[in-house]
Amino acid sequence: MAVIALKCPEIEVAVVDISVSRITAWNSDALPIYEPGLDEVVKKCRGKNLFFSTDVEKHVSEADIVFVSVNTPTKTQGLGAGKAADLTYWESAARMIADVSKSNKIVVEKSTVPVKTAEAIEKILTHNSKGIDFQILSNPEFLAEGTAIQDLFNPDRVLIGGRETPEGQKAIAALRDVYAHWVPVDRIICSNLWSAELSKLAANAFLAQRISSVNAMSALCEATGADVSQVAHAVGKDTRIGPKFLNASVGFGGSCFQKDILNLVYICECNGLPEVANYWKQVIKINDYQKTRFVNRIVSSMFNTVSGKKIAILGFAFKKDTGDTRETPAIDVCKGLLGDKALLSIYDPQVNEEQIQRDLAMKKFDWDHPVHLQPMSPTSIKQVNVVWDAYAATKDAHGVCILTEWDEFKTLDYQRIYNNMRKPAFIFDGRNVVDEAKLRAIGFIVYSIGKPLDQWLKDMPAVA
Ligand code: UGA
Repeated sequence: MAVIALKCPEIEVAVVDISVSRITAWNSDALPIYEPGLDEVVKKCRGKNLFFSTDVEKHVSEADIVFVSVNTPTKTQGLGAGKAADLTYWESAARMIADVSKSNKIVVEKSTVPVKTAEAIEKILTHNSKGIDFQILSNPEFLAEGTAIQDLFNPDRVLIGGRETPEGQKAIAALRDVYAHWVPVDRIICSNLWSAELSKLAANAFLAQRISSVNAMSALCEATGADVSQVAHAVGKDTRIGPKFLNASVGFGGSCFQKDILNLVYICECNGLPEVANYWKQVIKINDYQKTRFVNRIVSSMFNTVSGKKIAILGFAFKKDTGDTRETPAIDVCKGLLGDKALLSIYDPQVNEEQIQRDLAMKKFDWDHPVHLQPMSPTSIKQVNVVWDAYAATKDAHGVCILTEWDEFKTLDYQRIYNNMRKPAFIFDGRNVVDEAKLRAIGFIVYSIGKPLDQWLKDMPAVA
């Protein structure tokens, strides 16, 4: 919305939320999320044509176009628990829009939703419409965190789905005109509603599938002595495949991939397509396998026990350049190590202690529900210590795990870290950021995902 305000000075954008603390933060100097370049965009527009407010009803009733970006968590109970999207927040947003509207509106689905959600929303709006015309559009978002502003300035494509009626086409044209302020028209794709909704789930499923494919290869590389970076490079040189999204890792995280694939799986099952559902389920299974495999490597390398041993965790966010920890592989790796009674010292440049403690206490799928429904920060996790410096985290540690590819982890003084660690000193690089040869020369025992193994590790094979 900030980018729309920046690129379309004549359009007034009001961002509304029922959370007072959220809106207060958006109106302050310390924005509630970290995203490179975002501060600048917000500061340029805020107070001019970009406003943050808790007066939801006023702004919705005044708007011509309403974008709905509420969360759509995975259901934790009832029908479809663990797979289907929970549309509670979407439904109440739609009911509110119907209640407060006095003029015709275009309602845009911005949250990622199951296919055919627009139909349900349309029913809520039209059954409560008092003669008002509502046009529903699906306009899924393809930006990635950490590069959001660049992605929005220069998108590969913008997708707008709508009804194939004249009114539906008029609504599509209205939204296309907004994006056409800065996006070349040949990159604005228009489709029917269901295609737009499904394309979003499909794009994320394809991206995640690439990562699971390369991660599956990483296990085979370790077993055979091949190097996954070399394999990915060679494979990615095929222009039909392309080089992006082939970095082997400890697993993908983030608020979208797993949730969207689970959602896709559920939709396939509901449509009587178990083979298709199982195919996509496997992408998640490999991701879980990769995280388990990583923990098992650590434990087996360290004489089959990490009980009472200090392990430094460098990086907790799900990727670099974000403070977001939703579904980060670090949660599963840390829980695995805590299960084996390790003592963790965690450092991430953008994630604070409260967030980490909350993440480690939370149940699977609870993360996307409002904070007041989540468990309180547990003071009971005494095994976890959060510090603000990689050197403090690694001091007297038996092992170091790199779980996010922050640039600063490439240039740490590893000699200093080695000198201050217990011996033998282990490094488990879940993101392939360190120079293994240099670290081995210092004296570390190094494990890097999908790379030829140290003799030490070969002697202690990890059983997943
Ligand atoms: C993803 C998609 O890339 C966006 O297009 C989409 O709009 C977004 O989800 C969404 O649905 O909102 P995001 O989750 O922000 O974006 O970040 P990604 O860059 O896709 O990374 C996801 C995870 O995959 C991260 O944990 C990352 O470290 C991991 N990853 C990525 C790998 O392990 N290897 C790779 O080669 C690339």
